[in-house]
Amino acid sequence: MDTKRFETKEQDIAEAAALLQRGEVVGFPTETVYGLGANAFDAAAVDKIFAAKGRPSDNPLIVHIAHRRDVEKLARVVPAGAALCMERFWPGPLTIVLPCVDSVPRNVTAGLDTVGIRMPDHVTALQLIDAAGVPLAAPSANRSGRPSPTTAEHVLEDLSGRIAGVVDGGASGVGVESTVLDFSGATPMILRPGGVTREMLQEVIGEVGIDPALESGVGTPKSPGVKYTHYAPQGEMWLVEGARDLEKITELVQAAQEAGHRVGVLTTAERADAYAADVVIACGRRSDLSTVAAGLYDAIRQFDHADADLIYAEVFPETGVGLAVMNRLRKAASHRAIQS
Ligand code: TXA
Ligand code: MG
Repeated sequence: MDTKRFETKEQDIAEAAALLQRGEVVGFPTETVYGLGANAFDAAAVDKIFAAKGRPSDNPLIVHIAHRRDVEKLARVVPAGAALCMERFWPGPLTIVLPCVDSVPRNVTAGLDTVGIRMPDHVTALQLIDAAGVPLAAPSANRSGRPSPTTAEHVLEDLSGRIAGVVDGGASGVGVESTVLDFSGATPMILRPGGVTREMLQEVIGEVGIDPALESGVGTPKSPGVKYTHYAPQGEMWLVEGARDLEKITELVQAAQEAGHRVGVLTTAERADAYAADVVIACGRRSDLSTVAAGLYDAIRQFDHADADLIYAEVFPETGVGLAVMNRLRKAASHRAIQS
């Protein structure tokens, strides 16, 4: 299949929407990462998403909407706290998990009785959903197991020839996926940290839990997708924690190079010149963690392009969006960490 590349002009959006209406799958930009969309009410179209990505069928998809009223087509009940969050954070990087109506195809929810819904804060995404006239089920537009795409190039790198099209809207701003917030239990619970932080949620709805399996890497996370090894570069990544990380990484790099490895270091602009590794990637600025989030997946892909087989990464404070950054980094490193 030829993958058509669309721009963001009206006529291109109309063509991409026509493909969606015909049951094809199309990549599109959002403020978090690129999504791979299909008509959420067309089970055969949704199947094509799983096939193109090589995605396990037990991993549910997020349904993207352009209007608040579309929630009623998907969710059976909307608790008051969920309504407050929609009011405050939509459009934006927050997925809200609610009990779902029967008309949502089973493959969208992977057989669960809940559905994740979000309204992306991206004008092109909203225009595309509107033009298609249906909610779009859309996971991140990467091959399963690869880092999420933050540019149309990343989407094509993974899925060219496997999808009908991609709308190129430039680089995604947030860079990590949406926060997944579950309202199906007694207390709202974060199943995946993301762009909307726990602190921001607690200001609006009070107590918010975090799925305990997330922090430890032990136990079964409630969000099925979270259990898979995602985000992993091809090289083996290690996180280096503690106050003497610069000295420790410098030592580790030297030892690994002597042992014949092609060594990468993940750092930030502040220390871009501090390391003598084979591949040094400065991802954003430590002084502003949102810039680290924005560059993270591209940085991981760059280690692959440069064939680094061993990667040492600095770590970040786990507050605000730093929680999402560290959640992705720990997964990229399969929870391997060294103390300095
Ligand atoms: O920012 C994002 O969320 C991006 C953009 C494209 O919107 N999408 C995204 O989708 O990251 P995906 O499929 O890569 O991740 C969806 C996550 C998975 O961990 C999945 O298990 C979880 O959301 N999820 C979806 N529906 C769920 C549900 N009903 N219950 C629990 N977790 C759910
Ligand atoms: Mg994904």
